Amino acid sequence: MAFDIEMIKEVYANFSTKVDAARNIVGRPLTLSEKILYAHLWDGNPTTAYKRGTDYVDFAPDRVAMQDATAQMALLQFMQAGRPKVAVPSTVHCDHLITAKDGAAVDLPHAKTESAEVFEFLSSVSNKYGIGFWKPGAGIIHQVVLENYAFPGGMMIGTDSHTVNAGGLGMVAIGVGGADACDVMAGLPWELKFPKLIGVKLTGKLNGWTSPKDVILKVAGILTVKGGTGAIVEYFGEGARSMSCTGKGTICNMGAEIGATTSTFGYDESMERYLRATNRAEVADLANGIKEHLTGDPEVYNNPETYFDQVIEINLDELEPYLNGPFTPDLATPISQMKEAAAANGWPTKIEVGLIGSCTNSSYEDISRAVSIAKQVKEKGLVTKAEYCINPGSEQIRYTIERDGYLNVFEDIGATLFTNACGPCIGMWDRVGAEKQEKNTIVHSFNRNFAKRADGNPNTFAFVASPELVTALAIAGDLNFNPLTDKLINDKGEEVMLDAPSGDELPTKGFAVEDAGYQEPAKDGSNVQVIVSPTSHRLQLLDPFKPWEGTDLKGLKLLIKAKGKCTTDHISMAGPWLKFRGHLDNISNNMLIGAVNYFNDKTDSVKNQLTGEYGPVPATQRDYKAEGIGSIVVGDENYGEGSSREHAAMEPRHLGVRAVLVKSFARIHETNLKKQGMLALTFDNKEDYNKILEDDVIDIIGLTEFSPNAPLTLVLNHADGSSESIKVNHSYNAQQIEWFKAGGALNIIRREAAK
Ligand code: F3S
Repeated sequence: MAFDIEMIKEVYANFSTKVDAARNIVGRPLTLSEKILYAHLWDGNPTTAYKRGTDYVDFAPDRVAMQDATAQMALLQFMQAGRPKVAVPSTVHCDHLITAKDGAAVDLPHAKTESAEVFEFLSSVSNKYGIGFWKPGAGIIHQVVLENYAFPGGMMIGTDSHTVNAGGLGMVAIGVGGADACDVMAGLPWELKFPKLIGVKLTGKLNGWTSPKDVILKVAGILTVKGGTGAIVEYFGEGARSMSCTGKGTICNMGAEIGATTSTFGYDESMERYLRATNRAEVADLANGIKEHLTGDPEVYNNPETYFDQVIEINLDELEPYLNGPFTPDLATPISQMKEAAAANGWPTKIEVGLIGSCTNSSYEDISRAVSIAKQVKEKGLVTKAEYCINPGSEQIRYTIERDGYLNVFEDIGATLFTNACGPCIGMWDRVGAEKQEKNTIVHSFNRNFAKRADGNPNTFAFVASPELVTALAIAGDLNFNPLTDKLINDKGEEVMLDAPSGDELPTKGFAVEDAGYQEPAKDGSNVQVIVSPTSHRLQLLDPFKPWEGTDLKGLKLLIKAKGKCTTDHISMAGPWLKFRGHLDNISNNMLIGAVNYFNDKTDSVKNQLTGEYGPVPATQRDYKAEGIGSIVVGDENYGEGSSREHAAMEPRHLGVRAVLVKSFARIHETNLKKQGMLALTFDNKEDYNKILEDDVIDIIGLTEFSPNAPLTLVLNHADGSSESIKVNHSYNAQQIEWFKAGGALNIIRREAAK
């Protein structure tokens, strides 16, 4: 599938020199995470020892991966850059826009029709700009990346939070927003705060019912959903080496659930076996050539407390299977304690559905272990009590498990085979009866279990476990069932126990696939037309934003003074708006509708200074835009926290907001505003927030001398005829000031590309 061997050769050719230089600069042995980070500095050889958790650093990722929901805006923006091709190898994966309902045979054709224009756009834009395109049904982004593109020591960004899955193959792989992906594809550096490091030492060996999933379910219980924030989690020790590569992928995948920047493992024989089994012997040979650099220095793992910011130790010999949930992935309960926990909390114990697969757990090993449990239904005269569904991670996995007879075993227990896609994991599950919102329990091998995540029903209690445990629980239909100790009654009335799972790490006959669902991009895409209907509701080509007019900005209306929390969700809501992710004008109708207006404590109700009437924020702003009047948004602390969603910066820009003035910014959103050519300003004196009045008309003075570290002045012209000036700060560097002047970062890239 066209993994880029030349790129990998280049990364490896310089790896040892960069690692040695980093070791010298830092003056101590290095963790694997540090080696990969220092080997991917934008400026080449390391010359500075970065402070973890403090310093912002420019990196040069090797690859970009995008899923279909987030790829739309990333690629619409990329088209603005004026480049003939992406600067680094990139892929698009159609996995999020496929609803699971009646099974793959019905659901996939339906999705292809329903989202035809989005898929066609993604296919043509990929073809034109040299991007590998994985069609609907080809598989889930992270499984496909692990099977085809991930490589030890590499750095990748992806427009999905579970991009971190590729840590299973020894990468530093990080989830980002579309604007970051666009930058890297356009040949710009990618900025990240140098992460802190959490070391997890694994001793012993997995056995019986425990699986790699239980390692991360336990870690989630220890660290909680926030414990990994700003950190890379690095696993090491004999327990790590004894685990399969895909098992490592599962552990890294759910690092997203503890908020970790990413997770990773050092290169070992399990990775080599996986690379060879997935037709990448050449990568394995290259990795073997520098293998001492593709893991942490021995001294680091011998004395982890000295080199990591935090260390956790888990003995796999003693690890129990876990069931995490409901409603949060860090509520970790060992299976032996589930009966008491369920009783104490009043969780419904009848299991309605067991679901396996997803990007988290659909490796060959996962499926074969689940099959070893499912087989026992027939062998022991049992009946499966719950419904059972499977989302294979890729067509290669699906084809191989069909060839090996595993799908027949699942069929025997009444399983529904969904498309090789996200489906229930992202709420794309048209579950019969979900709208009744009845209290019920499901168990799944996915990663997230927040309320409504799977089926939209807030009363679905979802528990996360390994695929083998999910299968056992689906057979028993009972959350109280502990397969390690409890018996089931068979059709003869006898008591039987399920044998512990067993399976193959990799298929003994090798992987196979007939049509993987991959579209290679055109060698020369210059004649490829990207088709977007001008009447489409879901897609809209972008027009470049206008450059700065060269003067101070005067007469700006106050659009809203937002009070309290204003996250990217408040600025650009998700839910029903997701379908407009590729249509800037349509999605702009959600701009700031979740923000609370300081002056009336209401959401989506602001005073229109042209009419004196109160109305929705987007409509009010559209009125200003129609009159050619700019506006300003005022906010509170940590404005724009939550996600890297670029729509939260693009919508105000599109509708004519000129500046966002806040007490403080969430850094990613601040950068996104700058990239879109907006003014992101902060009060010098936070008390000045109180000086902003509802009918203010505001001037921004000092832009003709706009320079780094020089504050600007805001003149507040109040309705009573008085006016006052306040000092506002900004964090623009010289480059970012150029972005502002040009009307956005992409305008500069386009200008340079045209030279
Ligand atoms: Fe898809 Fe769920 Fe993974 S949404 S990418 S299967 S986390």
